Amino acid sequence: MADNEGNIEAKNYNTDVAVKTDGFFLKGNAHADWGVQNRLARIFNAKSGNTVMLAFDHGYIMGPTSGLERMDLSIVPLIQYADCIMCSRGTLRSVVPPLAGKPVALRFSAGSTILTELNNECLVGIDDAIKLDASALAPMVAIGDMKFEAKTIQNLAQCADYTSRYGIPTLGVTAVGKNLVRDARYLGLATRVCAENGANFVKTYYCEEGFEKVVAGCPVPIVIAGGKKLPEADALELAYKAISSGARGVDMGRNIFQSENPVAMIQAVKGVVHEGLNPKDAYQMYCDLAKKA
Ligand code: R5P
Repeated sequence: MADNEGNIEAKNYNTDVAVKTDGFFLKGNAHADWGVQNRLARIFNAKSGNTVMLAFDHGYIMGPTSGLERMDLSIVPLIQYADCIMCSRGTLRSVVPPLAGKPVALRFSAGSTILTELNNECLVGIDDAIKLDASALAPMVAIGDMKFEAKTIQNLAQCADYTSRYGIPTLGVTAVGKNLVRDARYLGLATRVCAENGANFVKTYYCEEGFEKVVAGCPVPIVIAGGKKLPEADALELAYKAISSGARGVDMGRNIFQSENPVAMIQAVKGVVHEGLNPKDAYQMYCDLAKKA
């Protein structure tokens, strides 16, 4: 209730204390809107600066992928260990409990499947992303695709407009076509194009040679996909090398949910990403946790 009498006069102006002008812990996003920074800070851990995103959006082009046949049984128990989940809106509504309490990187483009021509995608409606409280919009971008490159870059640019309007960050998801080589030159170009067109962070792949140049040439943070299933020790080494070369996290799917012990694996990946465990110690952690299960 507003009173015009008896109010205590304001006097604590602390004129001798300078106002803190904090920077932001993620590169390339220091000038982003409050809503964008707030949502990025839900996805990335401010202490380590990194994130473990659990990806299970594969079914949107591949159907019931191994490990994702019954996501209520295989994925839901893993969600508690992830910093962020990445999935389609269909999976979010049908499988993920609304009380899961994790930020969502929403798969934000859809189109053709593995049965036809990949990459012919359009965007999902922004109203639904807002309704679902998405923490990031994740459109696929097919750099180098002779037919759909421009269309998918336009999708990303449209997402960046939504980011400006609604404060939901854009995650550029680089798709590498069958005939393209995942080398530093290609990945450097693909990630840079995503950033230049407005992505707040980019998902790409690790490469053995020159990955640190890919990271350096991309003005926003990079997270890496895990790719096809590897032996657990190798997948942990991949994560370690990527983080050591400057990646700010992983957006990992098959190497977690197709693991012999997914709960142990996601915790070991977290050990690498947040605690800097080396591959040997992380694999030992995986084995110890798997033994206890
Ligand atoms: C691929 O486009 C999907 O978006 C996946 O989310 C991504 O590839 C990460 O999954 P994985 O670690 O299995 O490659």
